[in-house]
Amino acid sequence: MNFLPEVFSNNSAMVNGELVIGGCKATSLAKEFGTPLFVIDENDFKSRINGWKNALNSNFGSSAGEVYYASKSFVSVEVAKWIAEAGIGIDVCTGGELAVALAANFPANRIEVHGNNKSEAEIAKAISVGVAKIVIDSMQEIERVDRLAKAAGKVQNVLLRITPGVEAHTHEAISTAHEDVKFGFSIASGAAWKAIIATQSASNLALEGLHCHIGSQIFENEGFILATQKLLELSAKFRDEFKSELSELDLGGGYGIAYLAGDKTFDPNQVMAALAELVKSECNRHNLKVPKISIEPGRAIAGPTTTTLYEVGTTKDVELEGGKTRRYIAVDGGMSDNIRPGLYGAKYSALLANRTSTSTGINSRLVGKHCETGDIIIREIDLPSDVAPGDILAIPATGAYGRSMASNYNHMLKPAVISVANGSARTILRRESEADLLALDVVEAPRTIK
Ligand code: LLP
Repeated sequence: MNFLPEVFSNNSAMVNGELVIGGCKATSLAKEFGTPLFVIDENDFKSRINGWKNALNSNFGSSAGEVYYASKSFVSVEVAKWIAEAGIGIDVCTGGELAVALAANFPANRIEVHGNNKSEAEIAKAISVGVAKIVIDSMQEIERVDRLAKAAGKVQNVLLRITPGVEAHTHEAISTAHEDVKFGFSIASGAAWKAIIATQSASNLALEGLHCHIGSQIFENEGFILATQKLLELSAKFRDEFKSELSELDLGGGYGIAYLAGDKTFDPNQVMAALAELVKSECNRHNLKVPKISIEPGRAIAGPTTTTLYEVGTTKDVELEGGKTRRYIAVDGGMSDNIRPGLYGAKYSALLANRTSTSTGINSRLVGKHCETGDIIIREIDLPSDVAPGDILAIPATGAYGRSMASNYNHMLKPAVISVANGSARTILRRESEADLLALDVVEAPRTIK
């Protein structure tokens, strides 16, 4: 329950018993913007972008490719502008994410398009705006992108998403590169090689290289090592067959962040140094030139920068078997703004943000306000026994896959996202209103459909 600097954004501190983020008091932010509230530490976000960019550039030198920020972790037009200004790329995986990037005037030649089932409209749009590359995920897509590029009179740069058959040590739902998944072309089954042959013979596709993404919230290096080895082995096979070398290797994202006291974090420079050493030695072994190396961190940039503020609404002591009690502390958000505990069993910490308490900790469960028993933000946490309605609780490290996975369950309104820096705060994504929700309800005259 103490303030843990390692899980809060860089410019967060406790000052006179109150949480201050980017120079703004949490209590004042809650008062001004309402709760639940996502508070992004803008300077922290920007320095994390630069951290990954500099780490890639300094360790790979002339073979540094692009850092593509995985916008699925969190994006808004303003955030896409920060990414563009920092001079890195952006990874979009739907037409919606592409629309946000374009609304931010993101340079198309730094946009990379993902997705295992892109629609023809999404592909056509991507080609027409001139994206840097499309990462192809299926045999049908090879034909579709080729055909749509031809129709547009263009040759489209593409990567092939490869499944290296790596078991990443993370939650099953966010592990993506073992064999039995919907993503990519598996090496073991021969699908990857077939896809390479098909792409090579497609007249309007230019195969730049291979891509893989082994999962998310990963800490063990072995997965990354194995994936890199397998993809370079495949690149060597390509060279032997086609007598030319692939120019890019994109190793995806997945770098884990700290949510709880004692969790590990990745230092971008250390990760990139280890990766550079591995890539160089593997390329040496296969007698390959070092290709351009690209990465796609999402969580590692957005995650630690954001804190959710909630207001406590009710508390309740529930008798458990064996005479114990559990205190339920309910806040004004929950599973509609953070589905991760429900979906992945993700764990978070919480901090009393508006005052210090000298009361002893009591076994508590932090829950939301949705009509669902599983609407739990933190299953088990010691919170001061005097936490009461009106208190502000802060949950750190909610920047990735929080707001971006938010829903309107129970017709909850998606919270605002505000950016704080140097004592100023501004809304970058406004809170939804009831009018926003009701705007979708229409009463149409029936039309005959045959
Ligand atoms: N590149 C590709 C192709 C991806 O599919 C992903 C994430 C990333 C990059 C970024 O991964 P990151 O660096 O953020 O780990 N909703 C889940 C995470 C799903 C990740 C999906 N793909 C969660 O809340 O944990």
